[in-house]
Amino acid sequence: MGTRKLTRRQAITAASAGALGTFVNWSFPSLSIVRKDQTKLAISGGPKIHSGNWPEWPVWDQSAEEGIIEMLHSGRWWRGGGEHIAEFEKKYAELMGTKRCLATASGSTALITSMKAFGIDAGDEVIVSPFTFIASYNVIFMNKVLPVFADTDPETFLIDPSTIESKITERTTAIIPVHIYGLPCDMDSINAIAKKHNLKVIEDACQAWLAEYRGKKAGTLGDAGCFSFQNSKNLPSGEGGAILSDNDEFMDRCYSIHNCGRPYRSIRRTSDYPIHGTNFRMQQFQALILISQMERILKDADIRLGNALCLDEKLKEIPGIIPYKLADGATRSAYHLYPFRYISKEFDNIPKERFIRALNAEGIPCSGGYGPQNKDGLIEDQLTSKGFKRLFSETRLNQWREENVLPGNDQLCNEAVIFYQSMLLGSRNDMEDIVKAITKIYEYRAELKA
Ligand SMILES: Cc1ncc(COP(=O)(O)O)c(C=O)c1O
Repeated sequence: MGTRKLTRRQAITAASAGALGTFVNWSFPSLSIVRKDQTKLAISGGPKIHSGNWPEWPVWDQSAEEGIIEMLHSGRWWRGGGEHIAEFEKKYAELMGTKRCLATASGSTALITSMKAFGIDAGDEVIVSPFTFIASYNVIFMNKVLPVFADTDPETFLIDPSTIESKITERTTAIIPVHIYGLPCDMDSINAIAKKHNLKVIEDACQAWLAEYRGKKAGTLGDAGCFSFQNSKNLPSGEGGAILSDNDEFMDRCYSIHNCGRPYRSIRRTSDYPIHGTNFRMQQFQALILISQMERILKDADIRLGNALCLDEKLKEIPGIIPYKLADGATRSAYHLYPFRYISKEFDNIPKERFIRALNAEGIPCSGGYGPQNKDGLIEDQLTSKGFKRLFSETRLNQWREENVLPGNDQLCNEAVIFYQSMLLGSRNDMEDIVKAITKIYEYRAELKA
């Protein structure tokens, strides 16, 4: 079996030219190879397809150790003495192709800082993707701003730009498109809407390191981009985050805000704390881990891409399995997760949850993605909170409730299934096992009904 390794350039070219098949020269069993008389599903007692382990995450080598011990002994653990944080910021900005980077304590604090630096304030409204991790809209609530969900395009898993404009009101100040799972949003359309309505675009790129849109990195396409380096992320440091932008004035404000409002460059010293801020600083330990993790990020990204392209080709041959589609203009996903849609009617209406359990039993870890969070009780708690009642009229909140109907998102929440990024660091045989296992479940779907 061929295990041809893609160079970074080959992989990018393949993805952008749509010539994925060129590199997929290894073959999976056709549906008929898994014969009905051979085995039965692992969930009902048969042998499982994948009995080995999957790559663990995070992965480290000794390159970080010496620096961490040295820094521990130096006592310069915080940003104040922090040459390692500055080094990381320089390297990350270079890697991503932006002028400035500010390291933060987390992705959430990167988003909160960016909103504050753009002057987004209590009583404003922000349009955001609904198919996302809760943090994307929690940070909006945190600022006492109303998150307004546009709908999701189930094919791309991303915000559907055609549903944004109708959600804009006179209070809307920004759009936060989320490059969920590392899939870049249709940024040309989003930026055009933002320009027309004078809105800021803060990209939630917390899952999208090295994803590309028209060859430029996700997180560098709007007014600012925010990243997370939490433990599970493709670039991990336990916790951590970053803001990217070319806008010096904005970045100076971000720096000052994340450092308790102290003066910084263009933020002049009218007092010791001239603007309102708080402590969202990164630690030196985090920066050292990030610098060492950056040694592997390009290679890992290429391995994930090569494996994902192979899965794309093979999974789409199975009835009822539809891999994600890249949005218009997107040239590369970061594959924080590998998503596909499970169409249950092709599997004799076996519910997604049962399909997932059957796949797990075959030794293939996976889960069901995000639920319809726009309907979560937590949101109603916020809307009925004392602060929100003061800031928004009953009429506006009722209108929000009436318009909180997202058929595309509902459909995707019913259909989405995801594989984890570390699985994509496995071998081609591992990918083959994923396809074999789904094929087997398809072939034996009658067993699941019993
Ligand atoms: C899409 C998205 N936005 C925001 C965040 C928040 O990042 P953090 O956990 O570093 O605060 C995350 C983290 O998982 C995320 O996945």
